[in-house]
Amino acid sequence: MNPRTITNLKGKEKIACLTAYDYRTARILDDAGIPLILVGDSVGTTLLGHPNTLPVTLDDMIRHTAAVVRGTRNALVVLDMPFMTYQASTEQALLNCGRALQETGCHAVKIEGGAFRAPTIATLVQNGIPVLAHIGLTPQSIQTLGTRVQGRGEEAARQLIADAQAVAQAGAFALVLETVPATLGAQVTAAVNIPVIGIGAGPHCDGQILVINDLLGLSGDFKPKFVKTYANLGAQTAAAVTAYKNEVISGAYPAPEHSYE
Ligand code: KIV
Repeated sequence: MNPRTITNLKGKEKIACLTAYDYRTARILDDAGIPLILVGDSVGTTLLGHPNTLPVTLDDMIRHTAAVVRGTRNALVVLDMPFMTYQASTEQALLNCGRALQETGCHAVKIEGGAFRAPTIATLVQNGIPVLAHIGLTPQSIQTLGTRVQGRGEEAARQLIADAQAVAQAGAFALVLETVPATLGAQVTAAVNIPVIGIGAGPHCDGQILVINDLLGLSGDFKPKFVKTYANLGAQTAAAVTAYKNEVISGAYPAPEHSYE
């Protein structure tokens, strides 16, 4: 997979994307044929215990992305640039995104923002750094946007379509569209010639992305409406750990077959 093959899937095949943060999970996703793995800054909430994505650093992202790259043979790996590593200036974005590619071996970066971010996207792409854009609800703006559905009302919807067209025009190879009404998801998808990867943006997008921990039932009580839980590993892990604890206490573990002669 490379950015162009992802772009070329538009209109041909729905694109099933997921996040991953470690080597073993990346191997499972890659073997399952997931074409695009995002090392999301959601690592802050899923793995590192932060309340939101703002405290995540570039060093955090580099460590996790390098592990995912080591576990991947076919999928396109995208590093999610964390808060304040690309917003200050185009020069800052270029240096930090360049470092992300050089130090991890990932194929592309993701940055948040619509039309106002287009000049940064254009500079990155012109300098050989493929960009996955992210518009709609952008989690790094949690302090200003909160977590509410974006693009409601005519003016907001028009702006979101303009944002999608601006990032596509700037050279993004695809865009993530988060938490907007399904009808607007369809309009944005029709308005651009790059794949629109939805998360909480309805069924009409070119693809979907979910946070792997949400899909596996590893996110506790956190469950936005758009999440479908395909497994319940949180409950299964708790049961396994409890069984282990009880067997250690009772002496049932380790049994002879777990012991050396
Ligand atoms: O950080 C992340 O996991 C993301 C996805 C939810 C798109 O940005």
